[in-house]
Amino acid sequence: MCGIVGYTGTQEAAPVLLDGLKKLEYRGYDSAGIAVMEGRSIAICKVKGRIANLCEKTKDGEALPGTTGIGHTRWATHGAPTEENAHPHLSNDGRFAVVHNGIIENYMSLRDELIRSGYRFESETDTEVIVHLIERYYKGNMRDALIKTSNRLQGSYALGVICSEEPGRIYAVREASPLILGIGVGENFFASDVTALVSHTRSVIYLEDGEFAEIDADSVRVFDGAGQEIRKKISRVLWDVRAAEKGGHEHFMLKEIMEQPGAVRATVAPRIRNGEVVFEELETLIPHLENVRKIVITACGSAYYAGCAGKYALERLCRIPVEVELASELRYSDPLIDEGTLVIVISQSGETADTIAALKECRSKGAKTLAIVNVVGSTVASLADWTVYTWAGPEIAVATTKGYTTQIAVLYMLAAYIAKHLGLLQNEAALTDTLQALPRRIQQAIDMNPSIPALARKYHASKALFFIGRNTDYAVALEGALKMKEISYLHSEAYAAGELKHGTIALIEEHQPVIALCCNASIMEKTLSNIVEVKSRGAEVLALTFRSNRQIVSVADDLLFIPPVDPLFSAVIEIVPLQLLAYHVARENGCDIDKPKNLAKSVTVE
Ligand code: F6R
Repeated sequence: MCGIVGYTGTQEAAPVLLDGLKKLEYRGYDSAGIAVMEGRSIAICKVKGRIANLCEKTKDGEALPGTTGIGHTRWATHGAPTEENAHPHLSNDGRFAVVHNGIIENYMSLRDELIRSGYRFESETDTEVIVHLIERYYKGNMRDALIKTSNRLQGSYALGVICSEEPGRIYAVREASPLILGIGVGENFFASDVTALVSHTRSVIYLEDGEFAEIDADSVRVFDGAGQEIRKKISRVLWDVRAAEKGGHEHFMLKEIMEQPGAVRATVAPRIRNGEVVFEELETLIPHLENVRKIVITACGSAYYAGCAGKYALERLCRIPVEVELASELRYSDPLIDEGTLVIVISQSGETADTIAALKECRSKGAKTLAIVNVVGSTVASLADWTVYTWAGPEIAVATTKGYTTQIAVLYMLAAYIAKHLGLLQNEAALTDTLQALPRRIQQAIDMNPSIPALARKYHASKALFFIGRNTDYAVALEGALKMKEISYLHSEAYAAGELKHGTIALIEEHQPVIALCCNASIMEKTLSNIVEVKSRGAEVLALTFRSNRQIVSVADDLLFIPPVDPLFSAVIEIVPLQLLAYHVARENGCDIDKPKNLAKSVTVE
């Protein structure tokens, strides 16, 4: 939920850190700070609010000279977003500074213990115990101090540490929180995410849990938790630096919506060959399929809704029961999961705390686990038995768009793949044609709806929005409502259309907007009845449907269109006009679209 960055080299560190923090700002944006080391002295600057405030306060970094430093952008967990609680935190003797992403679960007892030993606390954060522990354990050897400190910590942490006794050196420590080292020429880096590194280097090392790194300008050494040096593979980041920039769009979210045809193509194309679905990464899954009696999909937020949408294709094609469970619920529910369960874990970031915990819970019960993940090398990817990557590229806007659609695209392909290996798939060539056409259809869905900005002007001041749909349409309605509420702050809820008259219809009054999803021909008549019911109570209906659907077109007040597509595979198309509607409503409302209030991109706390 926070972002950390570190630099050592020959350049002035502060501007490099500020630039890195801007790239990580999507991870948290309520306060920020940097610490820069010049010779043997550490200077710190912290602000409440955005990185822009930090740039202003440091005069774009000029106020903090020095070529070694660490930085942090925060999403508050322990303690309000104030300057005192912002990182870096400094030890009482001023020799150590620490930035931290994660949560120290046993910080209360450590804090009491340290206060009893005479340490003075300046903040309300859990992080501050770390810097005091380092001071306490430092006896001239930083590696030793870091190992002893780590042994006392429970929880998750990616740490960046500097010590004034070791000019020119930064330390990075990882436990259950992402941390990547960037390997340059005469300079080296660490960061929570490769997006902060790619403008400097494409050569990276993914630290694993329990490892820490000692980083100088011209060398990087990695150690395990016992202090043994280990050899690490240097990986190449394949995507272009422009992928993490706005590319002429006003917001990352708009850019990422527009990128969806390409992202879905990049995800689907390598897995379809000569009319067949091919997952090279899943070959060892095939022998287990005969034993799969149940599939459980687990995830959080939009990734959970992607699971809700994918369930229909999995059940229809594979004839295996599919349950979709919120990871935050599943982990505490003593789930009925065993060796006969295939658990599919979905996560864009691969770092969502509840999703990781649910994955571990399922593994401990003997289930086979398959992860659908976007961020290469992330925790979820490293824990699952099999990983299928969505090739969406970096997703910067806090509200997911291309992350969600590529996850569903993988679920569609997975449904076809499993069904095929169970001998249940008929007409694979026609199905792969449908899948290969998805990027084109998404583009059509973008092009068919020039009225969205005008619709946003009409609806942006509404008190509430209801989204209704049945079956696959309902699954998309859930994500449509989430998109709307999280970026526009307009109260939005999704309902299974058939459920309206069991309670919710009481909320329908004159001019209440209802967004009705009607893209599933098999239950169209039923949704039409629900539209008529709400209209006769005064609602204004914005229907999402096909142009050819005369009944809906004639009854709705306003319309959004998608091209005709098999409802089993329509979720990735249907969501696109709803994403655009949410975007334009948020824009009308003057919201900070890429960084909605109270949110952060990767939810690494429970
Ligand atoms: C909503 C959104 C969140 C995420 C959720 C899971 O737009 O982005 O609901 O989908 O926090 O995140 P990941 O997929 O990274 O596990």
